[in-house]
Amino acid sequence: MSVGTGKGKTILFGEHFVVYGLPSLAAGIAAETIARVKRSSKPGWTLKDKRPAVPGYKQEKAEEQSASIDNIVKYLGIDLTRQGIDILFEGNLTCASGIGASAASCVALARALNSEFRLGLNDDQINQAAYEGEKGYHGTPSGVDNTCSTFGGLIWFKTNPNAPPTFEKLRLDRPLSLVIAATGITASTKRVVDDVKAKKEHDPSWFSNIADEYAHLVEDARHALLRLDLDRTGQLMDRNHELLQDLTVSCAELDRLVAVARENGAVGAKLTGTGRGGNMIALAPDPKSASAIGKALKKAGAAELWVTNFGT
Ligand code: MEV
Repeated sequence: MSVGTGKGKTILFGEHFVVYGLPSLAAGIAAETIARVKRSSKPGWTLKDKRPAVPGYKQEKAEEQSASIDNIVKYLGIDLTRQGIDILFEGNLTCASGIGASAASCVALARALNSEFRLGLNDDQINQAAYEGEKGYHGTPSGVDNTCSTFGGLIWFKTNPNAPPTFEKLRLDRPLSLVIAATGITASTKRVVDDVKAKKEHDPSWFSNIADEYAHLVEDARHALLRLDLDRTGQLMDRNHELLQDLTVSCAELDRLVAVARENGAVGAKLTGTGRGGNMIALAPDPKSASAIGKALKKAGAAELWVTNFGT
């Protein structure tokens, strides 16, 4: 039996824009998914999914999950026609849209298979296998989620035309406190990404006005984060949320949690990930404020909560 792990992630800046080649700032979080793989005498694969999850998440994602496992097995060239494998997913990462649950499971599975079948893959190759798995969930992912789940830390990520994505690991002088809250609504990344794409094609200048502002904003955010300027980082998160509202990927539940976080001491807050449900994040000035913001979000109905930190 072999084991692999993959981290949860949060997008600090750049969901959706990253799909169109603009940079994203994203961070791995401590919670992770564990995959255990055992060989079995029956051909094919079986799955026991014991990960904690917000209600409805696993049912909503079941078909995509199956395609994702097939993609990883195929990409790694593992022949399951004679002997099969039993897969078990567990760990402390609660599955909810926006926390990198799909990417974490793809990375964990790729690592477990790598070890069980002695494939000798390095982290870049694990990341590539996980990317193939992510395609099962959302067609043409940017790759930011699996990269964060594989490498953790704080990353500056960019896709490139006709070339693989590139990323840079950033390091802050001290960790920053972050609160992540789930609306409990499971979003389909594929559906939301496809909808933004259709809107962009229908009205290119609408999209490029929003994207042009984001392109400046994310450069500013990188510098603000590196000099630990929380006020400026928070302002930019607030503005990024407004740009995502303009892209039509927020929703009333996300806007409400964002407002509650700001009213309760967050220096900035925004939706994170796909949107139209899923999660929001709030940057806290210190760990004590983070726990107060967390309590307020829970009281306001957050379905799941992570009080965490990032950057070191
Ligand atoms: C989903 O976590 C992030 C999106 O930008 C899609 C992607 O990057 O593939 C919405």
